[in-house]
Amino acid sequence: MYKIFETVDDVSRYTAQRLLDKILAKPAAVLGLATGGTMEPVYAQLVQMLQQQPTDLSRLTTFNLDEYIGLTESHVQSYRYYMDEHLFDKLNLPRERVHLPDGMAEDIDGACLAYSAAIQAAGGLDLQLLGIGSNGHIGFNEPYTRFSSRTHVIALSEQTRRDNGRFFSDQDEVPIHALTLGIQDILEAKEIMLVATGPNKAEVMAELHHSGVDEALPASALKQHDNVTIVLDREAAALLPSAEWRAVQTVQLLAG
Ligand code: GLP
Repeated sequence: MYKIFETVDDVSRYTAQRLLDKILAKPAAVLGLATGGTMEPVYAQLVQMLQQQPTDLSRLTTFNLDEYIGLTESHVQSYRYYMDEHLFDKLNLPRERVHLPDGMAEDIDGACLAYSAAIQAAGGLDLQLLGIGSNGHIGFNEPYTRFSSRTHVIALSEQTRRDNGRFFSDQDEVPIHALTLGIQDILEAKEIMLVATGPNKAEVMAELHHSGVDEALPASALKQHDNVTIVLDREAAALLPSAEWRAVQTVQLLAG
């Protein structure tokens, strides 16, 4: 199901509200969280909403999708740093309830196995938030990752390293490897929200729309899931077939 909004602000408010609704409906929810530029305004909205509506977060559990290998927690481009900065520190979430793959683990394979197992032990993901890479990656699952994958090490594609280079002072600083939740782990979430904004995502969203289920396009795995919402702004939706644009009217009516 598509939800197409006029602006990034509308997208972020809608997405944050869905996260808040999940927490209100299930205070012990297990949330799958994502990083990236797309999520920054989403988390800003969520923090603001939670300030206006104080909510008990003490039973909430979170698992992040991915982490670079070789960046310490204090590195400003590590996803741990990102999450602390944009969400965890602002909400005072208990550290023991928030989880990220450990990109500094000595036993990386053991850490991968333990991460997927920890999600299952927590009862599985109630809601998985996803962004999308310009090559269709979800988490850091690059094209041709097996759809049956669990948490694993991935060699980042040149395209992904280039895209993410904008956050680093030097392109050469972008790590070559990362840890990511596998596609099977993602598909086991009860509910999934994929969020994409801006003109740079228009092509991949059109590709995803027209694609069959194909390991060449990791996000197409979501077509096998029966509870996915794709949340887009007008720019990211620009190349979708016109039929999908009827949704814009509906959403604007709902918002207005
Ligand atoms: C990054 C992250 C993904 C994220 C995607 C989009 O590489 N590993 O989890 O969804 O790319 O990022 P952005 O929102 O910055 O476009």
